[in-house]
Amino acid sequence: MMHSLTSLLLSTLLVIKGSGVQAQPACTRDFLKTAADSLLAAQTAGNPALLQPLSPSAVYHENFRNASLTSGSSLTRATKIDFSRHSLDTTQCATYTEIISATGAQPYVIGVQMFFTSAQITKVDLLSTTTGDWLFNATGTLRWASRENWGTIPEADRDSREVIKAAGDAYCDIFHDKSVVVPWGRPCARLEGGVYTGNGGQNDRCDVGIPSGVQLVDRRYVIDETVGAVSIFLSFSGIPDSHEFRVEKGTLRFVHTITVMNTGSGPGKGKGKRKRLARGDT
Ligand SMILES: *[C@@H]1O[C@H](CO)[C@@H](O)[C@H](O)[C@H]1NC(C)=O
Ligand SMILES: *[C@@H]1O[C@H](CO)[C@@H](O)[C@H](O)[C@H]1NC(C)=O
Repeated sequence: MMHSLTSLLLSTLLVIKGSGVQAQPACTRDFLKTAADSLLAAQTAGNPALLQPLSPSAVYHENFRNASLTSGSSLTRATKIDFSRHSLDTTQCATYTEIISATGAQPYVIGVQMFFTSAQITKVDLLSTTTGDWLFNATGTLRWASRENWGTIPEADRDSREVIKAAGDAYCDIFHDKSVVVPWGRPCARLEGGVYTGNGGQNDRCDVGIPSGVQLVDRRYVIDETVGAVSIFLSFSGIPDSHEFRVEKGTLRFVHTITVMNTGSGPGKGKGKRKRLARGDT
């Protein structure tokens, strides 16, 4: 009896295996957190080999360009990390990490989206900003980012992925379509580079200084409902950019931006363009 049960089980397993059904390993928060923590270890040590579990065929983009992870990348520069925060997206199997280095040899603010397939990192998209980038001031970024509460939202109060994504999209859409209704929170604060639109008080607003006539396109999302966060990597009219939002009860609470100016042909090219876009004279 025991024997026949075992062989029945075995043959059932073989049938499942033979049918080509590939069990995808579960993408858990623990798994994603361990991998995202390995990114911090790699950036701290300046050793890309510490980034795990990395697929041998992983694609690496730095500031929206194809690049080598092991030669000349951000991860090859040992960096003192003063502050970091992860978003974990178990639905897409992806992570977003914000990294602030304000007190090391050179200041950096870095945003990283990672995408996983079959329990391996298959794509790393890293934006690295430093002195000279849009409103860059790592001391300011650290000061404000570390005061904000991006903590876990009680389950009963959580928004759906759709609501969180729609809030971020509405903010991005209003740059070219002023008729879009954005769910502004009160208070709401924007950390744009190292500059804060508020002072951490109840009257902070983020519906200020929004340019017009700018297309925010090619959006790539990482969403973590447990903290109401959506990270959007996008092309800010051609400039590599990250917008990250914290959404509470359907409304925008915090906005963080990282905008890379030190690309394009010639230093400051992006900056002049970003300034014109900020003024609205496109
Ligand atoms: C990176 O390289 C791939 C393959 O050569 C190419 O298809 C893609 O357009 C490149 N991407 C960027 C951002 O340059
Ligand atoms: C950078 O931010 C810090 C902290 O908010 C501020 O004290 C400092 O004046 C800022 N530096 C510049 C150059 O704006």
